[in-house]
Amino acid sequence: MVSDTRILITGSNGLLGQKIVMQLLRKRLDFLATSLGSNRNPDCPSDRYVSMDITNKEDIEKCVDVFQPTCIINTAAMTNVDECEDKVELCHQINVEAVHNLLEISAENNIQLIHLSTDFVFDGLNGPYKETDEKNPLSVYAKSKVDSEELLEKSDYKNWAILRTIIVFGQGNNLSRSNIVLWAREALKKETN
Ligand SMILES: NC(=O)c1ccc[n+]([C@@H]2O[C@H](COP(=O)([O-])OP(=O)(O)OC[C@H]3O[C@@H](n4cnc5c(N)ncnc54)[C@H](OP(=O)(O)O)[C@@H]3O)[C@@H](O)[C@H]2O)c1
Repeated sequence: MVSDTRILITGSNGLLGQKIVMQLLRKRLDFLATSLGSNRNPDCPSDRYVSMDITNKEDIEKCVDVFQPTCIINTAAMTNVDECEDKVELCHQINVEAVHNLLEISAENNIQLIHLSTDFVFDGLNGPYKETDEKNPLSVYAKSKVDSEELLEKSDYKNWAILRTIIVFGQGNNLSRSNIVLWAREALKKETN
């Protein structure tokens, strides 16, 4: 390992999580990958993986006690916008209450918290946006991300960062959902068959 940085990543089975794991391995940084289910990413060594439910505070505390991270990268989320409309309470638990868990534990242990958010916090009517522009979420998913951002913004603990990404696309291992590149590839395959 090349530094004292120890990174705990949530949502490591997801698309962004898998790509971050790949970068951490390349850079030979110490990390613990976590996700809700069992490890579905064959590129992530099994001794670097534990299942961790971010809605369960005790689960997070156990991992933090054992691994002692200096930084948590939270990519875990309910990301399917339609599912969020159908399961509003679950969306709130995963996308907001769980971020509260991560924030409290980060503050108690002086861990840097890097939280993933989205351009969906804006309504899209007046872009391009500055990060300080007024938010106006138009969906349950977007509102949950705004609420999670506000937890951090209003906290007395300031060792955090919010990264708002736009469409994440690409190939991954055993992903639970598709993305624009995979849709296009499947459509092209069907046309050539
Ligand atoms: N995809 C996009 O286009 C996009 C755009 C803007 C922002 N973002 C944000 O970027 C982040 C990563 O997105 P992504 O596309 O990589 O997500 P993704 O592929 O849907 O992966 C999300 C991961 O979260 C995990 N998860 C769900 N509930 C959990 C829980 N209770 N405890 C622990 N882990 C849980 C799932 O784990 P299991 O697979 O193990 O169940 C899943 O692998 C999210 O915060 C998302 O809001 C994404």
